[in-house]
Amino acid sequence: MSARILRWREGDNEKLLKQAADILSHGGLVAIPTETVYGLAADATNGEAVARIFAAKGRPRFNPLIAHVADLAMARSCARFDARAERLAQAFWPGPLTLVLPLAEGAPVHPLVTAGLGTIAIRRPSGPSAELIARFGRPLAAPSANPSGRLSPTSAAHVAEGLGESIDAIIDAGPCRVGLESTIVSLAGQAPRLLRPGGLNAAQIEAVLGERLLAPETVSGEARKIEAPGMMSSHYAPRAALRLDAARVEPGEALLAFGPALPENAGEAVATRNLSPAGSLVEAAASLFAFLHELDRSGAAVIAVAPVPRQGLGAAINDRLARAAAPRA
Ligand code: TXA
Ligand code: MG
Repeated sequence: MSARILRWREGDNEKLLKQAADILSHGGLVAIPTETVYGLAADATNGEAVARIFAAKGRPRFNPLIAHVADLAMARSCARFDARAERLAQAFWPGPLTLVLPLAEGAPVHPLVTAGLGTIAIRRPSGPSAELIARFGRPLAAPSANPSGRLSPTSAAHVAEGLGESIDAIIDAGPCRVGLESTIVSLAGQAPRLLRPGGLNAAQIEAVLGERLLAPETVSGEARKIEAPGMMSSHYAPRAALRLDAARVEPGEALLAFGPALPENAGEAVATRNLSPAGSLVEAAASLFAFLHELDRSGAAVIAVAPVPRQGLGAAINDRLARAAAPRA
């Protein structure tokens, strides 16, 4: 089986939405474009369909998934919103923010989605995926549409390359605007916690909350167990090894550059991509996974990565680079 490619066209997508919703209602898997990365979506109420996500990705069962919703009403049917959650949803949805909240009673979500936890991760994306969820009328469970432990996909071609033989359809709406997974904030405990840096700046979230987010490193005990699966160190891995903060390129290496100043010996690299010649972190985030995919395809055993500043979106970019560079499990 090869995934059907459904091309999104501005204006008329009636037929596409119907096809995709049909596949989902029969328990099938559809890759959906979101502003962050492509997601691998299934009907969140259908346990067998959700199980197929894990099978297709080769993902460990215990890892809970994000429930994607079309609007606030659907979000409130899944989770209990407090005043802080309402404020964040108001400020940043639709967008690259996932909230972890207490699971609502009678939530239209199979326990496999939450891995049986009393909390649920929810996100309201924008664009084609939001239209599909609205049409479908139920939440969609969706992790990133890549084989487990591999790079996240930011184009339909990435999805086809990794999962094309094991899913039903891919909605192709071009490259993802943000290019990094959503920022995950837990409001399930007393103090708000940043579980994963991502496409939305933590500082913007803190400004709306009026308080600091606990850093991921300070999360301990039960919460660490819960976040651990998605935070496995060898997540987001290309086949090549990554050498971070490279000041020079060694023989045989590919180069991932950032900004106008190139590392020593840059001309010797077997392949080069520059995340942002102008030094923009927004541009760099949007290109990160696509460029890692491309450099990986060059066949180089090592990708030298130039230093990327750590402020703002740079925190999330460096987080993904560190994971991609971590020793493989
Ligand atoms: O941008 C994104 O967030 C993309 C798009 C497709 O929406 N999705 C994504 O999903 O990155 P995934 O499955 O690769 O990452 C979801 C993360 C995992 O680290 C998981 O452990 C965490 O969310 N998570 C899910 N439910 C949780 C919960 N109840 N408590 C804590 N963490 C949770
Ligand atoms: Mg992922």
